[in-house]
Amino acid sequence: MRILTIIPTYNELESLPKTLGRLRSAVPASDVLVTDDNSPDGTGALADRIAAEDSQVHVMHRRGKEGLGAAYIAGFKWGLERDYDVIIEMDADGSHQPEQLPRLLDAIESGADLVIGSRWVPGGSVVNWPFYRQLISRTGSTYARIMLGLKVKDMTAGYRAFRRTTLEKLDLGAVESVGYGFQVDLAWRVAKMGLSVVEVPVTFVERELGSSKMSGNIVVEAMLNVTKWGLSDRWARLTRRAER
Ligand code: GDD
Ligand code: MN
Repeated sequence: MRILTIIPTYNELESLPKTLGRLRSAVPASDVLVTDDNSPDGTGALADRIAAEDSQVHVMHRRGKEGLGAAYIAGFKWGLERDYDVIIEMDADGSHQPEQLPRLLDAIESGADLVIGSRWVPGGSVVNWPFYRQLISRTGSTYARIMLGLKVKDMTAGYRAFRRTTLEKLDLGAVESVGYGFQVDLAWRVAKMGLSVVEVPVTFVERELGSSKMSGNIVVEAMLNVTKWGLSDRWARLTRRAER
């Protein structure tokens, strides 16, 4: 099983080396692609230095800050072109424990099409995450679950493992690519295709270095998108039923 872990970066000069080091020792079989959006703090050049010493680490330099979704989508395409069997989403800031990646890989081995490292299933937890962020995550996930009619508990989680066939079936060009909306949109599309979405418990540890790039308007935008997707999906089902 050829594994690629994608790490999107924007100003992660301090946290990237640590996360990369932990990943390379926790799952040495995984290749890595850093997709850097021309970080002003020099993350891209640092990633190049690490890649020069380690043939399993690759770097994609992108023009400018286009959101973590666009960076992940570019990484998915890069991984599919190079015949990886499993493609992982992992943040650079250490929130996603590389040591817990085997749990996601085991679920892929057992047949899952998409595995979500989930904070909100039994055994899942958060460390140092401010209460308001937990509230946003829980309410956002609950709202998305109801609006989109899904069973996934942690809809916005960003620690994921995709079987390559899942990504091949997705129209990546159509995926909403900014912030939380990206994560919710992807999970919904995979579930709507009738593919298996499995949640495994992980410990989400808020970053100690650097700062979050998520902002309030990204949350609002995601909630508006979920409402739009949910209502249009309901409308489509209603009109289909009426045509019968
Ligand atoms: N290339 C690129 N471009 N990377 C980005 C960008 C961007 O515009 N914005 C953020 N990133 C990278 C960060 O450098 C980090 O590696 C990762 O994406 C997550 O960014 P954070 O800023 O740490 O996100 P967060 O901690 O607020 O949100 C996390 O939790 C959310 C809720 O579960 C992320 O995992 C989200 O994807 C997730 O929805
Ligand atoms: Mn983070």
